[in-house]
Amino acid sequence: MMNKDIDRILISNSEIEKKTKEIAKQITNDYKGEEVLVVGILRGSVLFFAELVKNIELDLMFDFMYVSSYGTGTESSGEVKIVKDINQSIKGKNVLIIEDIIDTGRTLTNLKQILSTRNPKSIKICSLLDKPSRRVVDLEGDYVGFTIPDEFVVGFGLDYNERYRNLPHVCVLKESAFKNEEDDK
Ligand code: IMP
Ligand code: MG
Repeated sequence: MMNKDIDRILISNSEIEKKTKEIAKQITNDYKGEEVLVVGILRGSVLFFAELVKNIELDLMFDFMYVSSYGTGTESSGEVKIVKDINQSIKGKNVLIIEDIIDTGRTLTNLKQILSTRNPKSIKICSLLDKPSRRVVDLEGDYVGFTIPDEFVVGFGLDYNERYRNLPHVCVLKESAFKNEEDDK
């Protein structure tokens, strides 16, 4: 196995590539004739963002936001703090938020609310992963790659304490990887 902390691959890189192409095609059809501002949420969406945009055949503009959702480890909190905002007005624009995973739904609910006040033409969410069983607020992704069970995953952009983002597959960590964290310090 590629990394000693990995228990198993949940979604392989080739499955991700295939699914991402399907989503890109759908987005291409849905926004036909429109310009879209794709907003990647740093840092987890970076790999998915890159995979997705190269398969979308539309006039795209890129921007990025870095939001921190107060909370550490494996659970987010309700509040969202904008660490890095987008650098332009979104008034009258089609905004497509690209995210790694929708878990409780709090981060994206807050973010969508914040961006809505800036009067975009439309605002949609595209997420690689979705864990609907964990939802605490009513939020649905407009484009979702894979619905997964309530397991903490890493890889293809997703982290545990900033590690494992570069793994090419979405993976489940071994129990020991959580426990060993203190030993590393
Ligand atoms: P939410 O606000 O609970 O929906 O949390 C969304 C954020 O929590 C994501 O952008 C991830 O950074 C993080 N997150 C939630 N579940 C996982 C997971 O299984 N692995 C890695 N990060 C996760
Ligand atoms: Mg994270």
